[in-house]
Parts: sequence; C-alpha cells; structure tokens
Amino acid sequence: MAAGESVTLEAYLDRWAGGDADRGAVAAAVRAISAAGVGIADLVARGPLEESLAKIRGVDPNAGGDAQKELDVVAEERIIAALMPTPVAFLASEESEELIPVNPAGRLVVAVDPLDGSSNIDTNVSVGTIYSILPYDAAAHASPKDAVMRPGRHQVAAGFLAYGPATILVATFGAGTHVFVQDRASGAFLLARENVEIPAETKEYGVNQSNVRHWDAPMKGYIEDCLAGKEGPRGKDFNMRWVGSMVADAFRIFTRGGVYLYPGDKRKGYAEGRLRLIYEANPVAFLTEQAKGGATDGRTRILDIAPHHIHQRIPLVFGSKAEVETIASYY
Ligand code: AHG
Ligand code: MN
Ligand code: MN
Ligand code: MN
Repeated sequence: MAAGESVTLEAYLDRWAGGDADRGAVAAAVRAISAAGVGIADLVARGPLEESLAKIRGVDPNAGGDAQKELDVVAEERIIAALMPTPVAFLASEESEELIPVNPAGRLVVAVDPLDGSSNIDTNVSVGTIYSILPYDAAAHASPKDAVMRPGRHQVAAGFLAYGPATILVATFGAGTHVFVQDRASGAFLLARENVEIPAETKEYGVNQSNVRHWDAPMKGYIEDCLAGKEGPRGKDFNMRWVGSMVADAFRIFTRGGVYLYPGDKRKGYAEGRLRLIYEANPVAFLTEQAKGGATDGRTRILDIAPHHIHQRIPLVFGSKAEVETIASYY
C-alpha cells in the first residue's frame, strides 16, 4: 500500500477475497457486521438521550445468566438483520439460548457478543461488538452446533468493534491483526494500522481487583508480586488499568501492550470466570495471537480448548506474550 493512501475496509476486503468464494463469504459477513456496528455506534453516541437503552429488559436473564439491557437486544437484532443476505447459515449469540438460523444456503457460522460492556452503556465509556467466524459445511457437520463448538483454532476470521471516541474495528482474517477506524466524514472504515504487534513485555495489568478474596492461590500470588513493585520478585513497578468493557481493555493492549485477566473464582457461577469461550475468549485469543501476543486459561492455550456448551465460560488471560507466560507459570 502506498504511503499516505487511505485504504477502505471495502477495498481491503475485495483485495483479500480476490475471486475466492470462501473468502468472499467471510468478506460479506465482515461487511455486514461492520455496517451493523455503525448503526449501533450511532445509538451508543446518543448517550443519555436514549436512556432506555441502558435499562434492564424484563425479568429473565439471558442464557449466560446476565441481566439483559435494552441495547444488548437491539444490537443483536441489528446484527441478525445485517447478516440475513450474507452466506451465514447460523448465528450463536450471547443473547440467545439457541443458535439462530440465518441463511439456509450459508457456508459460515458466526458467534457474536452483540454488545460487550453492558454495564458501561449509560456511563459514556466504550462498549463494543465481538465476532468469530467459522466455516460451515452441512454435509460435514452433524449439526450446526457441531460447527460452532470447535476449538478456536478453527476460526477463519474474528474481530471486534469498539464504540468509543473513535469507532474502531480490530480484525484478523488469519494472517495478522489490523485496525480500521471509521472516518466520520465519509462513514467508511479506513485502515489505520496493519499487522499490529503487541509488545511482548509489559508493566500494565487489568483485573477486577474487587474479587481478590475469591481468587485461587496462583492468581493471588501473581497480583501480590505485581503490587510488590521494584522491591518484589518481579523487580519492576506495575500500573493497573481496567475499563470493564473487554473490547476497550483489549484495544489498549493492542495499542501499547499489557495483560487482561479474568480468572475463575470461588463465587457461585464464577468457577470458570466471567468471559464466554465461543464469542469472547476465542475471537480475542485469535486476534491476540495474530498480533504476536498470548491467550490462555492459565494452563491451556485458549484456541485449543474444545467447547462443551455454546455459552460456557472460561478463565481468560491475554495480552503481552512474556507476561502471559509468566502468569501461566504461577499455575
Ligand atoms: P458483557 O457485557 O458482554 O456481558 O461482557 C462483560 C464482560 C467484559 O466486557 C468485562 O471485561 C467483564 O465482563 C467485566 O466484568 P466485571 O463486571 O466483573 O468487572
Ligand atoms: Mn452480558
Ligand atoms: Mn462481553
Ligand atoms: Mn454482551
């Protein structure tokens, strides 16, 4: 790409897909999700003018046990509508117990977290949308669920949008991780950084420290050693950053390094942490590895974990590779 030339997501996807039908299908899905994201970003940007979007909807939690906010459901509806004309056969979503049939002729399955960071909706803090794309072959898979419930290394593409000061798309198509930013003047996503590299070393970690009393010994040990600073076994002072929307924490890590931790803990329902494997941990792990970082549950590479349930949770540590390895050594 010539220096100074703006490359739109459209042009990038066209060039990447070439005449290949499989790639063309992935490109169509990414176009649809990013278009839905632009609409969701507009809603988010209305902030308190659309107060009802942050309200809890009904009395029933979603399949994963989270209270459903109005925007969680609106975001899901927009993504389904956008994917309808694309070659996506089924959609797995945080907000729906079962797979959603999309296009009977489809050759892909997509898993989404329609709105990541629900608890931040009404606080003018970045929220986002996460997606994971897997191939689907009706003849090869006993059921569409089988196509979704595969280790994350089978993903062909993944990414997330973050709706913040800028609307950004962080995407991988299996070779490198790239950042696109929506240009507000034209509305198009423009390539801002190609082949992002997460620095291997870091002094910054992100964790919900209010859960310290619930953590296991390795996790407590790691954070204690960080808190001990220069005088402690790590021999350096650490900084802590935690947005509470994983997409925003992830984007910071893609920008300047760091580690994000959501371990399993002793609270009821948190034995496997908080993040969901299929539509949160897998896509973020794929993006992270493609940016030369690491992602583990403490013991196993995230992308090698065989799922047993669409909405299953998984302890998640991702980010700067050397620091992720250090954390794994505590386990
Ligand atoms: P979601 O809003 O899609 O349910 O995901 C929320 C996740 C993630 O975004 C965030 O990092 C984490 O939950 C926050 O957990 P705490 O509420 O424990 O801080
Ligand atoms: Mn939720
Ligand atoms: Mn989420
Ligand atoms: Mn969500």
